[in-house]
Amino acid sequence: MSAATAKTTSPHPKILIAAAGEDDIWQKAMVARLPDADIVTQHENYDPVTIDYALLWKQPQGMLKTLSGLKAIFSLGAGVDHVLSAPSLPANVPVLRLEDAGMADQMVQYHLYAALHFLRDFDIYTRQQAKADWTQHDVARISKCRVGVMGLGALGAAVATAMTQIGFAVSGWSRTMKAIDGITTYAGSETLTEFLGQSDILICMLPRTPETEGVLNSNTLSQLPKNAAIINAARGAMIVEADLLRLLDTGHLRGAFLDVAITEPLPESHPFWDHPKIRVTPHIAAATRIEESVDQIAENIDRITRGETPRGLVDRKTGY
Ligand code: NAP
Ligand code: GLV
Repeated sequence: MSAATAKTTSPHPKILIAAAGEDDIWQKAMVARLPDADIVTQHENYDPVTIDYALLWKQPQGMLKTLSGLKAIFSLGAGVDHVLSAPSLPANVPVLRLEDAGMADQMVQYHLYAALHFLRDFDIYTRQQAKADWTQHDVARISKCRVGVMGLGALGAAVATAMTQIGFAVSGWSRTMKAIDGITTYAGSETLTEFLGQSDILICMLPRTPETEGVLNSNTLSQLPKNAAIINAARGAMIVEADLLRLLDTGHLRGAFLDVAITEPLPESHPFWDHPKIRVTPHIAAATRIEESVDQIAENIDRITRGETPRGLVDRKTGY
C-alpha cells in the first residue's frame, strides 16, 4: 500500500477480534494497549459495517463478507493462508501478517532439538530402546552434517543462523536471493535440485502458497541424499504425505519430524502417529506471543493512520 492510497482512520478505531478460542485474551491485551479503541469480539453485538480492523485466526466462514468498511486485516499468526483462502476476502483490503512477534526464538528451539535428534541418532536409539538394544553408534561430526533451510524469512533466517552457530553446514533456499552470514544461499526453482542434493537435514520454513503447496513430493524428496531427514513446522500442505511415507518405507529417507499436517488435529487413524520413523508434535513449534503481537498491531494501526506503509504487508500475488 502506498502512502497515497492509504486510507486514514479515526483515533478511535473499531476493532473486531475473531481468534478461535482466544478472543477474550486478545481483547484484554488489545484494550490495555489501545485504550481509546472500540474493541469487540466476534461473540459480542457489533455493527459489521463500522469495523475498521479485523484481527483474525481461523475466522468463521463468511465473516469477512459482512465487514464492508475494513481498512486492514491482521493475521494473528505468521501465516496468512487462513485469511487468503477465505472466499469472502475483499480484494482491496491490505492483509498484514505478524513478523517474528516472539516466534523466531521458539522456532529456533524447535529446530535445534529436531536437528540434533537426527544428528545424534536419537531416532535410532528410541527404536533400540523398545527392543532393549544397547548398540552404540559413531557420533557424526556436526560440521559434516548439511542442513538445508527452505524459506529464509522472519523465521527461516533465524533458524538457519542458529544452525550455523552450533556448527552445522547450512544452506538456504528462497524465492529471491538472500545474503546471510555463514550460509550458502540459493534462490528460485531452477536451483532447487542443487539445494536439495546437499541437504542431509531438510527444514521447511516456507509459507503455504499456490507455488509451495506439494513442493515436497516424490520427485523433490528423492533428490535429497539417501538417508536424509526432514523437519516440517511450516504447513502440512507443503508435503505430499503419501510420497513422504513411501520414501520413508523404501529407506530413501531416514526420518521426519513434523509439527504440521494437512488435516489438523491429525486424525487418530493417521499413519503418521505410529510410524517408527516419524515424530509428531501438535502444531506447537512457535506460538504467537500476545504482548509482542499487540505492539506490532498497534504500531501498524498507527502507521496506517498516518498514511504510511504498514509492516508485514502481504503481497496478494505471491501469497505471503
Ligand atoms: P516469511 O517471513 O514470509 O518468509 C517466507 C520465506 O519463504 C521467504 O524467504 C520467501 O522468499 C520464501 N518463499 C516463499 N515462497 C517461495 C517459493 N515459491 N520458493 C522459494 N522460497 C519461497 O514467513 P515466516 O514468518 O518466516 O513464516 C514461515 C511460515 O512458518 C509461515 O507462513 C507459517 O506457515 C509457518 N509457521 C508455523 C508455526 C508453527 O507453530 N508450526 C508458527 C509460525 C509460522 P523471499 O525471501 O525471497 O521472499
Ligand atoms: C502458526 O502456525 C502461524 O502461522 O503463526
